[in-house]
Amino acid sequence: MSAPSSFPNPDSNDLDRLHAAVKREKEDLDPGHEPAPMWVLFFFMLVAIVAGGQLGPMTGGFSFDVSNPFSIAKSGDPRPGGGDGAAAMDPFQTAMKKGASGYAVCGGCHQGSGMGLPGQYPPLAGSEWVLGGTERLIRVVQHGLVGQVTVKGQNYNFPGGMQGFGAGMSAGDFANVLTYIRNSWGNEAPMITKEMVEKFRADEKRTTQWTMAELEPFKDKNLPGEIPAGPGATSPAAK
Ligand code: HEC
Repeated sequence: MSAPSSFPNPDSNDLDRLHAAVKREKEDLDPGHEPAPMWVLFFFMLVAIVAGGQLGPMTGGFSFDVSNPFSIAKSGDPRPGGGDGAAAMDPFQTAMKKGASGYAVCGGCHQGSGMGLPGQYPPLAGSEWVLGGTERLIRVVQHGLVGQVTVKGQNYNFPGGMQGFGAGMSAGDFANVLTYIRNSWGNEAPMITKEMVEKFRADEKRTTQWTMAELEPFKDKNLPGEIPAGPGATSPAAK
């Protein structure tokens, strides 16, 4: 047997060379445990992609548009009461849903939790201003409030007070936000309707902020108007 002189001689007793040869070899595969060929991997990736695409059409139209819990029902929304079926949803649920997005205007100060910020923005959660007479509440939010106010036994006096939000909101949006703050974070009080807001706006022509003292006479008075039957009218605070 003759090999080219550069080829390592297997019979050589040079240990390093022998070991190097052994290290180069891959380990023997365990029969039955060989890795799957690459094409199998690609095949299943393809199956996953195709199946994912089918998920929408085959599960009643799942899509992030429709199933986004924060978006207002769009046309074609298959959920009960959504989209075209909105008429089927009771007026209170509809108002709460829309009011939740309208509340974004207020949340920067009164916070998503309704707790406000200590020493600056008073809480809406559990506030007697929110839960009490709607004649006072609507005036605060329509025209604003300035000077020292007491909410849940705490005094607040934010420089400049709160500006009114009435001018920038339709009667419907306005009513929904008020209904929302009266029925969130544990609050429960009868809803305020668009018709109530329209009537109030027709009668009350004030344009400047109120003070706590000026609103005292309104604190137990409620806006006139019908409240649609349903949870908006039958909550514990409804009379
Ligand atoms: C720029 C911050 C700010 C925004 C935005 C804001 N408020 Fe206020 N809000 C205040 C402050 C400050 C007071 C207390 C005013 C004072 O000190 O005289 C207040 C008071 C109130 C009160 C009476 C006190 C209480 O806590 O119950 C109500 C009700 C209220 N706001 C509702 C709303 C609603 C509804 C919105 C959204 C449409 C809103 N606010 C948006 C700052 C804000």
